[in-house]
Amino acid sequence: MLAGKRIVLGVTGGIAAYKAVDLCRRLVDAGAHVVPVMTAGAEHFLGRTTLSALASEPVQTSLWNEASPIPHTRLGQSADLIVVAPATARLLAAYAAGLSSDLLTNTLLATRAPVVVCPAMHTEMWEHPAVQANIATLRSRGVHIVEPEAGRLAGGDTGTGRLAAPERILAAIVRVLSGGDLAGTHVVVSAGGTREPIDAVRVIANRSSGKQGYAIAAEASARGAQVTLVSTVDLAVPFGVTVLAVETAAQMEAALTGLAPAADVVVMAAAVADFRPVAAVPGKIKKDQGVPQIVLEPTPDILAGLGATKPAGQVLVGFAAETSDLLVHAAAKLQRKHLDLIVANDVAAPGVGFQHDTNAVTLLGADGTTRTVALADKRAIAKAVLDTVVEIRGRDQPPHPPLPTS
Ligand code: CTP
Repeated sequence: MLAGKRIVLGVTGGIAAYKAVDLCRRLVDAGAHVVPVMTAGAEHFLGRTTLSALASEPVQTSLWNEASPIPHTRLGQSADLIVVAPATARLLAAYAAGLSSDLLTNTLLATRAPVVVCPAMHTEMWEHPAVQANIATLRSRGVHIVEPEAGRLAGGDTGTGRLAAPERILAAIVRVLSGGDLAGTHVVVSAGGTREPIDAVRVIANRSSGKQGYAIAAEASARGAQVTLVSTVDLAVPFGVTVLAVETAAQMEAALTGLAPAADVVVMAAAVADFRPVAAVPGKIKKDQGVPQIVLEPTPDILAGLGATKPAGQVLVGFAAETSDLLVHAAAKLQRKHLDLIVANDVAAPGVGFQHDTNAVTLLGADGTTRTVALADKRAIAKAVLDTVVEIRGRDQPPHPPLPTS
């Protein structure tokens, strides 16, 4: 994934410095040549030997090095990417102000390579206007910020400020370095099962976990797309993905019909309820009122609606979760809903579909091509789906003008 890439890993003095070890290991496992640089503050939290043992070179800490009199320019010029994890408030301030007080800040100023900064600090510090102003300055200069997450902080506190998970930082690095075959596109993905209210506490739901939709969103983002995920579930948000939370089929339809006209690719991975109660009962239905009669009505077929109004050049992808006659039903849905591609899965097979981390699918294209992907994790399935989407775009579609990035 990162073979041949030279990555400078800057570590500054925060409690999250120990997590830099995990990130370092992941970068090396992904094929990168990792050059670690620690600040004096980082050495209070992490032993040099630990990081040196896992990185591709020994840790460097000093500007003053007789063997290499200008280490910062050598480091900055030879890097394919610099990542700072964790980045303290002090590092953000120094970098934003252009201060060159130590090896890491000098290296940051001496590079033209992309820079990924991963702040970590207490909530009060993260939310301080001075810190937020520095973040805005760095962003405006093209620095990629992997925002901290909410969770437990040092000293037993909880709040926003925890270093982003190493897999999220790795995803950001891969995305920044890849450029990506979906760069300049807007990909809209739906995920999860809709919940249709019966009364104030009960819903009609289904077994969809949302994992496949999230995997598609993560893969599209890693390949450079601007991704909007319309979701009914609360899973970890993949790097670079914007989530719109919805619950019912009606809310999902409203969100998607708003987004789809400007999308280059729409992937409808959500499991939409086919029927909903005609009207939700206000308050809670009580047992002593007897067995309720719940009258259902069909929900709108969102995907069929998107197919009927599909703009030229858009690739529309649907899913077909079946328990019998998989390809017959999937082919009928492909045609009926005017899709470019349908992802068919036999949800009765072991390890496939709802709630599993794995899936096995057949991809049916509108041109009659089929591709079978044997049981694999949902990210690998996502990769196969998006490989096919890229092929369809390359074959049939004139290039779409890139959307302005926010
Ligand atoms: N879908 C949708 N709106 C619905 C029902 C389904 O947009 N009200 C979408 C799903 O997100 C999926 C595709 O249509 O991408 C196929 O869904 P599926 O449930 O397999 O098929 P249905 O069209 O609902 O047909 P059936 O339930 O008879 O299999």
